[in-house]
Amino acid sequence: MFPSKLGLFAIIISIFLCVPVEPKCSKGCDLALASYYVWAGVNLTFMSEVMSDSISDFLSYNPPIPDQDSLQADMRINIPFPCDCINGDFFAHVFKYRMRVGDTYEKVAGTYYANLTTTEWVQKFNSYDLNRIPDGVQINVTVNCSCRDSSVSKDYGLFVTYPLRPGQTLDSVATETNLTTAVLKSYNPNANFSAGSGLVYIPTKGEGFVLVGMGKF
Ligand SMILES: *[C@@H]1O[C@H](CO)[C@@H](O)[C@H](O)[C@H]1NC(C)=O
Ligand SMILES: *[C@@H]1O[C@H](CO)[C@@H](O)[C@H](O)[C@H]1NC(C)=O
Ligand SMILES: *[C@@H]1O[C@H](CO)[C@@H](O)[C@H](O)[C@H]1NC(C)=O
Ligand SMILES: *[C@@H]1O[C@H](CO)[C@@H](O)[C@H](O)[C@H]1NC(C)=O
Ligand SMILES: *[C@@H]1O[C@H](CO)[C@@H](O)[C@H](O)[C@H]1NC(C)=O
Ligand SMILES: *[C@@H]1O[C@H](CO)[C@@H](O)[C@H](O)[C@H]1NC(C)=O
Repeated sequence: MFPSKLGLFAIIISIFLCVPVEPKCSKGCDLALASYYVWAGVNLTFMSEVMSDSISDFLSYNPPIPDQDSLQADMRINIPFPCDCINGDFFAHVFKYRMRVGDTYEKVAGTYYANLTTTEWVQKFNSYDLNRIPDGVQINVTVNCSCRDSSVSKDYGLFVTYPLRPGQTLDSVATETNLTTAVLKSYNPNANFSAGSGLVYIPTKGEGFVLVGMGKF
């Protein structure tokens, strides 16, 4: 009897000890990159405002951009941002965006933040109802990110939050980023690169680099 009672006691104690769910992250990292897909009508000033980053700072993470005043559509620009651990649960950064007349969560996610987030993911962190957002208020725009994971590989120090677009495949993203499909899959085991939407994380080597081939979609 005694050992089994003790065993039961141990189980109960361990259930109690396990109740506070183990945090999935404890701290973030200073730097992640966002792959911002250039839509018709956007300019560097606007990107710099929504992504809270100076133009000169983010230009240093990109190959030279030929005509900064009229950006070529279909191009991607890497924008650095800090990657935080949110509520011990996941990695992201919460940007602040001030709503203007006619803005919706959908427009914020799909256009202003270039699908770096989704309508649902924006809505989740704001108290305002989807259809009743006052003009001029600041909203939270949560963009997911990834920090180095030395359990996967020590080769890559930095991760790009990369929204997939229709027409892309695992092979096309590999070619575009000059990475092997195996490396891409190892960091995105559950991603469908042909899905036409959704986020993947592209590893790149450390800082002070130029992402060869990543300027253009
Ligand atoms: C930059 O783009 C934003 C968003 O499309 C637009 O509101 C603004 O007028 C543009 N600024 C210039 C100087 O083109
Ligand atoms: C975001 O995704 C939607 C749906 O696929 C697409 O229509 C839109 O052009 C995308 N926006 C950008 C900036 O890529
Ligand atoms: C961000 O990450 C969380 C946690 O992994 C996930 O539930 C959510 O769907 C992600 N959001 C986007 C826009 O991918
Ligand atoms: C934005 O997030 C902060 C921190 O979680 C929260 O206090 C604030 O109410 C949120 N803003 C809106 C508009 O819900
Ligand atoms: C692509 O990667 C290979 C191996 O890592 C490297 O030797 C080559 O120089 C890279 N090419 C470009 C264009 O970056
Ligand atoms: C990936 O997404 C594409 C487009 O939605 C779909 O046709 C394909 O079946 C998906 N592949 C897997 C393995 O789910």
